[in-house]
Amino acid sequence: MIERDRLLALKSQELDRFRSDRPRSVGLLEEARQVMPDGVPMAWMNYHYEHPTIFVESAEGAYITDVDGHRYLDMNLSDMSMATGYGLPAVASAVDAQFRKGAQMLLPTEDTIAVARELARRFGLPRWQFTLAASTANTEAIRVARANTGRDDILIFDGKYHGHIDLTLQKPGDQGAVPEFRGLLKSSGAHTRIVPFNDLEALEAALRDERVACVLTEPAFTTVGGVLMPDPGFHEGLRRLTRRYGAHLIVDETHTHVGHYGGLSRAWRLEPDILVLGKALGGGIPIGAYGLSEPLARFMEQPGGRPPKSRFEKVATGGTLFGNALQMAAARAVLENVLTKDIQSRAAALGARLAEGIEESIRARGLPWSVWHLCNRSGYHFALELPRNFRQLATVDDRELRGYTRIYLANRGVWEAVCDAGPAVSLSATAEDVEFYLNVLGSCFDTLVN
Ligand SMILES: Cc1ncc(COP(=O)(O)O)c(C=O)c1O
Repeated sequence: MIERDRLLALKSQELDRFRSDRPRSVGLLEEARQVMPDGVPMAWMNYHYEHPTIFVESAEGAYITDVDGHRYLDMNLSDMSMATGYGLPAVASAVDAQFRKGAQMLLPTEDTIAVARELARRFGLPRWQFTLAASTANTEAIRVARANTGRDDILIFDGKYHGHIDLTLQKPGDQGAVPEFRGLLKSSGAHTRIVPFNDLEALEAALRDERVACVLTEPAFTTVGGVLMPDPGFHEGLRRLTRRYGAHLIVDETHTHVGHYGGLSRAWRLEPDILVLGKALGGGIPIGAYGLSEPLARFMEQPGGRPPKSRFEKVATGGTLFGNALQMAAARAVLENVLTKDIQSRAAALGARLAEGIEESIRARGLPWSVWHLCNRSGYHFALELPRNFRQLATVDDRELRGYTRIYLANRGVWEAVCDAGPAVSLSATAEDVEFYLNVLGSCFDTLVN
């Protein structure tokens, strides 16, 4: 394997090249720093890499073009939020038409019924609510579960990401959950329990006292460092235990719903009480959504078993722009034209080719790594065996190596904003795009072994 000093030297060359080839982005960043911390509207935008951020000129289909004229195949899809592809005519015209008719009236439009009905048909949860992002959908899903059970605690799996929610921005500490970031209450983890993914024994121990309102999980973990697949039988066990101990099961399909028509909940028969969606559902227009089982939908209408006498008896949900007409028009266009069975199956087939190509590339160079594959996405872990939980993953992960791969690819026309999420195939990508990616990745791997 590559020596550390050589890796660092290669990475530094690539970082220099990146910077000197992008004078306009570098200049704009300097200007932007005067008016925004770190020069970006949200610190996250350059949190994932070591080079100056690029400023974007335009994006179309599966490609982004920066202000210096570099064109990139987007293989992170803006962290799955643009999995549909950029600038799709069907979405653009629906959004344009609705904007002219009224973007937001704090009233429902008929599109809302069409979207909720279609989500119910695909995902199997009969009734839906809408927010502006998956984070807020998760927040509200948790509140519904808490109000319904009268329990305060929630359970999440180690290594998760469910959005910027105080309750879930927690990691395991010696005495329970502790905040992962600054600015959170030191006690914000007091009601959060964390157990390792794929560990049914730990899960049962944490649920046994019947104080947990809900377990919040992704079907497969799309965590920092790559994807963790569920063990055979894990989801059956999770559903059995949540039912046994009276905790609701919330499945967060913010990322995974793109991979399979009807999501992995349908493909794997997960039977959640609440299912959360977001990101790509709006095709670029902010949206979050959650589907509720019939008993929970009825509970929202009648939290005390009767219609509420005042709004303060209701569950704490809602926001001024939630469920607005513009996002409903966008979601309807996405569901009818992009997130279709045919297009999703085609992207999953390209994802299978991506996984096969990565595997071939790794084996041909004798790299001691393992490959995961999840519908339209794939990637590799730096160990011969796939890790089963976050602790194992963190032990084998190598951020320096991932950082090098990322910058090498960026210099050669591939953009992976969050590179450790693993590459994903856009619903707008072609077979040639996947081969292009594999070729560049192969040449990067060559530099590691030669
Ligand atoms: C699984 C999962 N859930 C929820 C979220 C939060 O999405 P948003 O930032 O759009 O609210 C993310 C974001 O990456 C996610 O990966």
